Amino acid sequence: MIRIQDVKLAPSILAADFARLGEQVVEAEKARADRIHVDVMDGDFVPNLSMGPAIVESLRKVTRLPLETHLMVSDPDLFLEEFAAAGSDSFLVHWEGNNNLHRTVQRIKALGKRAGVAINPATPSTVLDEIIHDVDLVLVMTVNPGFGHQSFIPTTVSKIARVKALVQRVKPGCEVEVDGGIDPATAPLVVRAGATVLVAGSAIFGEREGVTAAMIRLQAAINEEEREPAEQSAL
Ligand code: DX5
Ligand code: ZN
Repeated sequence: MIRIQDVKLAPSILAADFARLGEQVVEAEKARADRIHVDVMDGDFVPNLSMGPAIVESLRKVTRLPLETHLMVSDPDLFLEEFAAAGSDSFLVHWEGNNNLHRTVQRIKALGKRAGVAINPATPSTVLDEIIHDVDLVLVMTVNPGFGHQSFIPTTVSKIARVKALVQRVKPGCEVEVDGGIDPATAPLVVRAGATVLVAGSAIFGEREGVTAAMIRLQAAINEEEREPAEQSAL
């Protein structure tokens, strides 16, 4: 049985009101966010631009929560040191387009940071086989990266379960995180499949009711979800 304390929420500031960013992050922290998810886009790896290390540096001053940096960029190695110096605690780097993923992961570890590998919706879970030993978390994209407010892709659910099975077999301490289209309706699906960290942008920062109420609604949806241990769930 999975309870709220087992599932962590990572609010993605991509959907925040940037004029009130610090305030909104503090509110998310008070509402029991586990970490803050920072989406970095370079207009090349994904067709959008977002934020750089200056945002991390500013956030570092207003929250004690870990700052997780999701690098949707063509050459993540170029930016690791700068983000680490700004205050990033962990990095999520994509499998796609990285010919030297193992090296990138080792560089993250050499900086003393947690390393995670992200896979896009069309990428099979099997690409993780040879890198899983080296990472602290895996991020299963449940939308195509690049934008907030997109619809959850249902076919990713079975992949989450396959990733979970791999993690349990090879690296039980590794976190299984999901990103994209997570809201009170989809959260129970990914939790049932084995996700332990849920990134949510618009469902937390985009709701009229405010950050606290949105967090409570998401936590309630997860809390209602009870499931058998993952090894018994159908893959
Ligand atoms: C998408 C980003 C996500 C995004 C999620 O490329 O990686 O983190 O902020 O936004 P929502 O929760 O609105 O789908
Ligand atoms: Zn993200």
